[in-house]
Amino acid sequence: MQYANITGWGKCLPPAVLSNEDLATFLDTSDEWISTRTGIKERRISHVSTATLASLAAKRALAAAGLDAAELDMVILGTACPDTLIPNSASLVQANIGAVNAAVFDLNAACTGFVYGLSIGTGMIRSGAMKKVLVIGADRIPYFLDYSQRDVSVLFGDGAGAVVLEACDEECGLIAEKLGCDGEARDILAARDSGTARERFAAVDGYFDVNFEGQEIFKRAVRGMGQAITGVLEKLELEPEQIDLLIPHQANVRIIDTLAKRMKAPPEKVVVNIEKYGNTSAATVPIALCEALEEGRIKAGDKILTAAFGAGLTWGAAVIKWGPRTTPVGECTEELPKSDKTALDILMPWVKGCQEAAAKKAE
Ligand SMILES: CC(C)(COP(=O)(O)OP(=O)(O)OC[C@H]1O[C@@H](n2cnc3c(N)ncnc32)[C@H](O)[C@@H]1OP(=O)(O)O)[C@@H](O)C(=O)NCCC(=O)NCCS
Repeated sequence: MQYANITGWGKCLPPAVLSNEDLATFLDTSDEWISTRTGIKERRISHVSTATLASLAAKRALAAAGLDAAELDMVILGTACPDTLIPNSASLVQANIGAVNAAVFDLNAACTGFVYGLSIGTGMIRSGAMKKVLVIGADRIPYFLDYSQRDVSVLFGDGAGAVVLEACDEECGLIAEKLGCDGEARDILAARDSGTARERFAAVDGYFDVNFEGQEIFKRAVRGMGQAITGVLEKLELEPEQIDLLIPHQANVRIIDTLAKRMKAPPEKVVVNIEKYGNTSAATVPIALCEALEEGRIKAGDKILTAAFGAGLTWGAAVIKWGPRTTPVGECTEELPKSDKTALDILMPWVKGCQEAAAKKAE
């Protein structure tokens, strides 16, 4: 039996920090409201593209695995924010990192993209078709937001995380998953005109029609992730107490608290970093995984439960049995290109555009 061990991990967060106070300079909001309702204190805004963030996370994961990119059989880029729709952004990542022998594709399952990707990459290895797969979660949801809406504007940030999967004979890596989608409610979390559904020559105004029904999403997130968690634990005949670490999607700390409570998981068993990065969509889980490893919270043989939820409304959970190594083999010291721009410098043209579009709509 083949398993797909996680042998490398890396993350990439752009340097520009957008605090709750920064948001309050152009939105009718406050640090107090955002912190208490969401758990978020700040998030990052990227001066580079999704593929650039993804590529650096990938290089760091490859260094941690001690692997050359040319050894990869496949690169899966979980993203809802590709640089271009044609061609896919995974091909740019391939070129950037030198994964010359890899099959590559983008996978759009929104915030659940990394968990879906982990399942597919593991499946390719377990089938015997491949030996080494790179799975990335990278998103820039702030690009799509309607900055005239104060509820949705405060939740998201940019980032990327990646893992390397390698074939091994001992039971480790993803050992079970439960994936699904709540498609009948797909419109409640949507950038409705972000693809070919968009009136072609409307593209020049740069405005996306974002629909976001926060409370309904909240309810369905708890239900979707709860269902996925129950499903995956049942598959493995595990009790919640047998899980060593919960790495949930970071969308709202109240969603995380609800799930942790249901699992009777004490705080030391739950990874929470939403206060620093907000919701980075497909990147939340691999970023949180990297930080858990950096902080020494994962031991060989630990059972890690991850669960995510996102637009679609996709949902999923997976149990990972950690392999023998918890420290990186090597380090990639490369950094993103330098930028003098603050997060507000990057955001302001979008904020102005959204405010003007909202004013036009209201006329
Ligand atoms: C968006 C979310 C934080 C809103 O929290 P909530 O407790 O449901 O808040 P409500 O929508 O009930 O709004 C309560 C009030 O706060 C106001 N409000 C909304 N956003 C605000 C903000 N950023 N600052 C200040 N006030 C705000 C509302 O206008 C409303 O005011 P009103 O009572 O005068 O009408 C919450 O619904 C949520 O996190 N949903 C899940 C979203 C998510 O994570 N999506 C991604 C999944 S991948």
